[in-house]
Amino acid sequence: MTVRTPLIAGNWKMHKTVAEAEDFIQALLPRVSTADGVDVAICPPFTALAAMVDSTRGSRVQVFAQNMHQSASGAFTGEVSSAMLNELDVQGVVLGHSERREYFGETDRALALKVPAALEAGLAPILCVGETEAEREAGDTERKLRHQVQEGLAKLAPGQLAAVAIAYEPIWAIGTGKVAQPEQAQEAAAFIRALIAGRDGEQAQQARILYGGSVKPENARELLELPDVDGALVGGASLDAQDFAAIVGAVS
Ligand code: PGA
Repeated sequence: MTVRTPLIAGNWKMHKTVAEAEDFIQALLPRVSTADGVDVAICPPFTALAAMVDSTRGSRVQVFAQNMHQSASGAFTGEVSSAMLNELDVQGVVLGHSERREYFGETDRALALKVPAALEAGLAPILCVGETEAEREAGDTERKLRHQVQEGLAKLAPGQLAAVAIAYEPIWAIGTGKVAQPEQAQEAAAFIRALIAGRDGEQAQQARILYGGSVKPENARELLELPDVDGALVGGASLDAQDFAAIVGAVS
């Protein structure tokens, strides 16, 4: 049986100045130093990446960006490339978060290029997928997930699939306090794993599938125990060191 190391990633979104990030990390590090069998990542805004890489050196906490452009360089005002993240020693990148898709025009077509660009640069991608409430109610959840997963992974060779963590984040659960029922999270995670297995069965067993959407210390354990859920992408609760550490600690 494949053992997948769970990943708990904190997506700060547009929160925390460098000074606030420093306060957070000094509070977090002692709280997660003995956590075992779990990978821990924080995803600060671009402006705090360098400081957080410095402050986490030698610790178990990894630093991921929240987005990157697919091109190596160019006339793309406001964007950041994989080489720029590499230079800072950033270890991974969140791609296709629903807020990027909804507010900033992130497309599956761009993500199909971003995912391989991240891997080629040695950055661990977390590809986010998930349905709206209307899509779930219309019975369109699987169609939406199939489309997003297949497009996002389209340009990868089968042997690269396991290197991508996929975060299942139902949009109706993000920032709403309305967490998915464990059966819903398990069903979607298993469906995503089956989609990967459609390309390569072995890679599908190794790939990590995360759940995201209103994960809190109180509900983390039951979500993290699900057979196909290999971690969490945490928004709001990742802004508080004690809450985030409690979610890391919920990995049994
Ligand atoms: P939330 O956000 O935990 O605040 O619901 C999750 C996310 O957007 O990744």
